[in-house]
Amino acid sequence: MKIDIGNPHRRPRRMRLHPGVRALVEENILRKEDLIAPLFVSETGTVRFPVPSLPGVSRVPLQELAKEVGELAALGLRGVMLFPVNDVKVKTPSGEEAFNPNGLVQRAIAEVKRAVPGMVVFADVALDPFTTHGHDGIVNDAGEILNDETVEALCKMSVTLAQAGVDFASPSDMMDGRVGAIRTALDGAGFWRVGILAYSAKFASAFYGPFREAVNSGARGLDKKSYQLTPGNIRQALQETELDEQEGADMLMVKPALPYLDVVRAVREKSLLPIVAYHVSGEYAMLKAAVERGWLDEKPCVQETLTSLRRAGADLIVTYYARWACENLF
Ligand code: PBG
Repeated sequence: MKIDIGNPHRRPRRMRLHPGVRALVEENILRKEDLIAPLFVSETGTVRFPVPSLPGVSRVPLQELAKEVGELAALGLRGVMLFPVNDVKVKTPSGEEAFNPNGLVQRAIAEVKRAVPGMVVFADVALDPFTTHGHDGIVNDAGEILNDETVEALCKMSVTLAQAGVDFASPSDMMDGRVGAIRTALDGAGFWRVGILAYSAKFASAFYGPFREAVNSGARGLDKKSYQLTPGNIRQALQETELDEQEGADMLMVKPALPYLDVVRAVREKSLLPIVAYHVSGEYAMLKAAVERGWLDEKPCVQETLTSLRRAGADLIVTYYARWACENLF
């Protein structure tokens, strides 16, 4: 019996039969320049200290940072995002260390800029690496996160990051009004060149566990639902991105990445700003765990994961796979 496949003139497989044709019609391509490497920086020691739940990721001592960033630059990476791993001794309930001009993250920024002036440096703006409780903001006796007091601290912190040479202050705290306030503070201090990457659509996700372990920030399962977005809500995510854009953000972040591809797409369609997706620690750990067990093949899975973020509409991707991708995918 002759099978009838419908309209025989329409054969989309013609575009897939030959590797050359497939290469010609590829729609979304991942480049090294699309990747930003998160780096955990520690104060002491001379050796890189592995993070158990993030295989392949280490805390880099300040004195090793120049070497690390030099290697990343040689591999073709253009951006790093710095996270300080602070000693518990510097942590306080209100996180004043955040705006110590000589604090760890401020010195790390200066060190990266000294070692590789062309490297674009992003630094997280939030209080969690500096507070004893691990919340991103200042907490009152009733356990509430105080919005405006926190914003004031974030403004002070952003100015110290700018003084150290940061290219993009990256508020990840989800307080109201922080982007506008930080913009005003930076401009007031003469730092109009310093940009703001706003973590606008940051969800109260269970995928941040390994990160919190890496930076020693409080309990793994800390409840941040009163400031981070509820996972099922996309309209609130769009409100946040719209407000951050109005307040002067230069780039918008969606975080985590894979469970929120629809949010990446929706933000992409509403904004003309560059969109950044943060492929977070738990997403990385998940892939690594399956790879270690031999259940998944790392190269094609990482390629597919990162490319899917580009397809969804992300211009840039913050990922713990940045270095690995440069070494293995391109
Ligand atoms: C803190 C911050 C977090 C991450 C980046 N900045 C954790 C949190 O909100 O608790 C998570 C990143 C990751 O999981 O890779 N403001």
